Amino acid sequence: MKRIIIAIDGFSSCGKSTMAKALARNIGYLYFDSGAMYRAVALYCMQNSLITDGEIDTEALRGKMKDIHITFEADPETKNSITFLNGVNVEHSIRSLEVSRYVSNVAALDFVRSEMVEQQREMGKQKGIVMDGRDIGTTVFPDAEMKVFVTASAEVRAKRRYDELSARGDNPNFNEILENVLQRDHIDQTRDVSPLKKADDAILLDNSNLTREEQMEWLIDTYKKLTTEC
Ligand code: CDP
Repeated sequence: MKRIIIAIDGFSSCGKSTMAKALARNIGYLYFDSGAMYRAVALYCMQNSLITDGEIDTEALRGKMKDIHITFEADPETKNSITFLNGVNVEHSIRSLEVSRYVSNVAALDFVRSEMVEQQREMGKQKGIVMDGRDIGTTVFPDAEMKVFVTASAEVRAKRRYDELSARGDNPNFNEILENVLQRDHIDQTRDVSPLKKADDAILLDNSNLTREEQMEWLIDTYKKLTTEC
């Protein structure tokens, strides 16, 4: 069977990563989380005093880009992908609400995006990958054979993120999360460089009322149809 590139884009917190990870595991593909890369850059800014009074020091960050190395490794037990920032495992810290507060502003910077997109295209050279994000089907891999654009209502998405943070022992506030989800939607859709939008040839998936099992069945069906066709 032909090995393809699967691009999964969509709004924040609609379960893209969980879905993309599970799909990759199911069909024996590698999974790449492009959002984790932008989160790692935001974390780098926080750790290196590049944020003052909530403002990112854009020029200082531009000068530091060559010092930011993001890599992925598979967890030997769970096989889940773990994000490393300059050799340090940051998989847990990049998921904090504080990183979520800055990430969309960091991801709106053109020099950050061009660097990340270059690295993402490198990862795609091997084919047989699932990558999720905001611009994978539009900018990173416009020729991806399978493109899915995921959405769900803002309340459903905030509830999912709330449950995720609670499950890992944080003490989240639902309204703060909802506000963050809406704010990131706005920044992601209105930025100048690669704004979040559905590629014309992407299939729309509204998963507000789908169980994980129903969603996986739909994804595998779509994948099988596409790979037997091409
Ligand atoms: O998990 P969630 O959907 O909440 O976000 P994420 O995939 O971890 O991405 C975090 C943020 O990075 C998003 O809100 C976007 O602002 C940005 N991002 C992007 O601009 N382009 C991508 N390909 C992936 C993420």
